[in-house]
Amino acid sequence: MEVRVQRGAIQDISSELIVVNLFKGVSEPTGATGVVDRALGGAIRELIAVGDLTGEEGQTALLYPRGAIPARRVLVVGLGERERFGLETVRRVSAEVVRTVARLGVRDYHSIVHGAGAAGLDAEYAAQAVAEGTVLGNYRYRGYRTQDGQDKTVDTLTLVEFSADALPVVERGARRGQIVAESACLARDLANEPANRLTPAGLAKFAKSIAEEVGLACDVLGEKEMESLGMGALLGVARGSEEPAQFIVLEHGAVEEGRELDTVVIVGKGITFDSGGISLKDREGMERMKYDMSGAAVALATARAAALLHLPLHVVALIPATENLPGGRAYKPGDVLTTLSGQTIEVISTDAEGRLILADALAYAERYRPKAIVDLATLTGGCIVALGHVASGLMGNDAELLAALKAAAARSGEKVWELPLFDEYKEQIKSDVADVKNSGGREASAIVGGLFLSRFVGDCPWAHLDIAGTAWADKEQGYLAKGATGWGVRLLAEWLQSRVGS
Ligand code: BES
Ligand code: MN
Ligand code: ZN
Repeated sequence: MEVRVQRGAIQDISSELIVVNLFKGVSEPTGATGVVDRALGGAIRELIAVGDLTGEEGQTALLYPRGAIPARRVLVVGLGERERFGLETVRRVSAEVVRTVARLGVRDYHSIVHGAGAAGLDAEYAAQAVAEGTVLGNYRYRGYRTQDGQDKTVDTLTLVEFSADALPVVERGARRGQIVAESACLARDLANEPANRLTPAGLAKFAKSIAEEVGLACDVLGEKEMESLGMGALLGVARGSEEPAQFIVLEHGAVEEGRELDTVVIVGKGITFDSGGISLKDREGMERMKYDMSGAAVALATARAAALLHLPLHVVALIPATENLPGGRAYKPGDVLTTLSGQTIEVISTDAEGRLILADALAYAERYRPKAIVDLATLTGGCIVALGHVASGLMGNDAELLAALKAAAARSGEKVWELPLFDEYKEQIKSDVADVKNSGGREASAIVGGLFLSRFVGDCPWAHLDIAGTAWADKEQGYLAKGATGWGVRLLAEWLQSRVGS
């Protein structure tokens, strides 16, 4: 969908539907809501007086002006308590609005920028949050149902800004929000896609087409090249699958007007299906494991966003992609793999495959001499036990990088929580036959996963995001649809922007 911006007063707009808002506990609306209320002869005050509108967060009330103003409908949305109001509220409320509008069958509507007025949010961030919440809330996975009709969605939201001074920043925020949220929707689509329809080769093909579309460089290494490079861990995981592994490299801003830009590398786990391999998973919920390439989807989508935002930064996305299946040639517990870094790994569980493919990708990242490496992976069930679906586990070796990611998390609304990489946990992955083993059992498994990865990043600043819990939503909630969430695109886009001071 498209988010536009126009200058004007909301009560003068000729539209199928206009949106204004109300804080909880307000009986005399002010600002745009007050103006519309007076134009409607106090109809909004009446709704409040009879108790049908309280301003509860996400509550909506629909009014029909019948010629009193040019708009056909007025939708009032509750913003909740003023003290608890913030950008996250704006995103949630905007998603609620777009779903309500879609249900009405209205395809184009106009809205004020929630929070930019009396609530005092920065107008640019507020506009970005409205755009994000709207685009994310309007998202539907199309899927493969041939019988039922598709859910209704909205085509265009036009933000109406009264102040000429604020107009440029509202435009900038809206544009950013649309790019970032659409990229997140793309990541959702990829992670929702069934594994028979999105194989490693399919992912590579998709990466190439996106690269073509937005102007990214794209290179895909096949198994022969991985072999000659020495990516024994990625190739080891791939042995059980008939589908050839792919190592996808996407680059934005490699050469910008002859300037040398700082390089950051984003690595995404790309297991297009995780059966566990010989250490086969329980059958319960295994269908979910098509989303084990969520990290890859986010890395790809973030590169897309970086290109469309024209960030003055060299952003490299690295995606090791393979299936993890059992088979006559599959890798086995007890096998020893030699990684690109030269380090050897004893395989304890073929179900701890994510860290294996990431080991080779992280070692490959070193070649770019990056200022920072961030990896995203649906790495451990243990991270879901620790943090549920609310926050991703954050680990890393560089306090400054971790602080920057936490700050970006707070602004983007994608929550992270740091887990400690204490040396004591390393005991769990000491091997008798190789440099390290790939599983340390159930205890602190998210942390042990992080410590395993830390061995492959040398001394480059690095952070690891375990998104096992956040990448998937069991039910629709706020701006999240049921299914893949695209978690991480907004956080990373915000972090990249903060690095270039925009
Ligand atoms: N992809 C899984 C982690 C996962 C589990 C993500 C459930 C989302 C939901 C990963 O490859 C895995 O199997 N991890 C193992 C690691 C263990 C063997 C050390 C796990 O968490 O059990
Ligand atoms: Mn696994
Ligand atoms: Zn996995």
